[in-house]
Amino acid sequence: MTANAPDFDAAFFRSALGRFATGVTLITTQSHDGPQPIGLTISSFNSVSLEPPLVSWTLSKKAASLPHFEKAERYVIHVLSAQQLHLARRFATGSQEQRFEGIEVGRSPNGAVMLSDPDCAAWFECYNLCRHEAGDHIIFIGQVERCERSFHQPLVYHAGDFDLTPSHEPLSGD
Ligand SMILES: Cc1cc2nc3c(=O)[nH]c(=O)nc-3n(C[C@H](O)[C@H](O)[C@H](O)COP(=O)(O)O)c2cc1C
Repeated sequence: MTANAPDFDAAFFRSALGRFATGVTLITTQSHDGPQPIGLTISSFNSVSLEPPLVSWTLSKKAASLPHFEKAERYVIHVLSAQQLHLARRFATGSQEQRFEGIEVGRSPNGAVMLSDPDCAAWFECYNLCRHEAGDHIIFIGQVERCERSFHQPLVYHAGDFDLTPSHEPLSGD
């Protein structure tokens, strides 16, 4: 059996998908041919499994950073807070050099490039466990080795825009 052809176009599909609100992440790793930091904005992050701890995200086959993430041993997924909107915008355009200009980077416990910014809502250090081809994207499955979280209000993406939900009080605990 095979799937029926869609009765909608790509623009309508994108608009329908946009009704699903997501958080926003910034994923970093190291260049495959040097120590340069690589990073981009990703909203396709998802939890997959608690034991073992697995997460997923998808990367366009057209992304310039794809070869770096395919070869990376580890990467760090930063869940952005509402006060990091500027980072979400900056890491979705321009060159890698422009994205990291003036940005302080450090290393995760197992040595992956990560942001030093304390304003992240959470971060997950991932071993690059496996990848699956799916249409025009690659699905990355990461095995989480270390993670940390704060209770900053998260950045929210919805209908192609950032919805900061400013009336919400920051969470104070689990
Ligand atoms: C809020 C937001 C979410 C995004 N989510 C994704 C995503 O899940 N997957 C993806 O491939 N690109 C996503 N992008 C687009 C990339 O950030 C953008 O294409 C970036 O320039 C790719 O960088 P690169 O070409 O250096 O790899 C998103 C952009 C924004 C603003």
